[in-house]
Amino acid sequence: MRISVLGSGTGTNFVAIAQAVARGELRNVDIALVLSDIENAGILARAQEFGVPCAYIPVTNFKTKLEGPPEQAYIEALRAAGTDYVVLAGFMRMIKREMLAAFPQRIINIHPALLPAFPGIHSWEQALAYGVKITGCTVHFVDEGMDTGPIIAQAAVPVHDDDTPASLHARIQQEEHRLYPRVLQWLADGRVHIQGRRTFLVPPGP
Ligand code: GAR
Repeated sequence: MRISVLGSGTGTNFVAIAQAVARGELRNVDIALVLSDIENAGILARAQEFGVPCAYIPVTNFKTKLEGPPEQAYIEALRAAGTDYVVLAGFMRMIKREMLAAFPQRIINIHPALLPAFPGIHSWEQALAYGVKITGCTVHFVDEGMDTGPIIAQAAVPVHDDDTPASLHARIQQEEHRLYPRVLQWLADGRVHIQGRRTFLVPPGP
């Protein structure tokens, strides 16, 4: 399974996935390409360290979504790399119709909350402000909504009384780094089936 990772930030999830591949813990997965909409994003530097092809593709026409000519440029780059799955790892733009159609049920995202709670940005701050005692992270298929696609897996994280936004996000990210490679292995093994809003993990083959 060839995956391409899209990110706008520091790239710790990319590193977790790349390390899992390098250690042989994530089998039959190749990281084909890393793309970012931020020129100096850490994820591009991390990709270079791992020897993964990477590119900055600017998106100048919209602030929060990927549409129009830049969307086409992303689709072309992803296709040229032979991408089976598009893996969003801190990519801070909404994915729109053309790209969803180019990779139907083949785009996944990790979100730093237990969806449907706290969609959008700064979810760990939303969780602290609301006062929940448990939050976490969610891996889900991407659809046209904001963090609304079918959920594949979730992991729970406790909120401590002395948490700051930074300490809570760090604890959530520790779980993200375990959850994302695990889900990618399920996808590579063809074990994730979708029925409507629900997904099912079928038993491993012989
Ligand atoms: C991750 O915590 C991810 O869940 C979040 O951005 C961070 C990226 O970190 N994504 C979103 O908030 C999407 N709405 P990373 O660049 O270190 O992997």
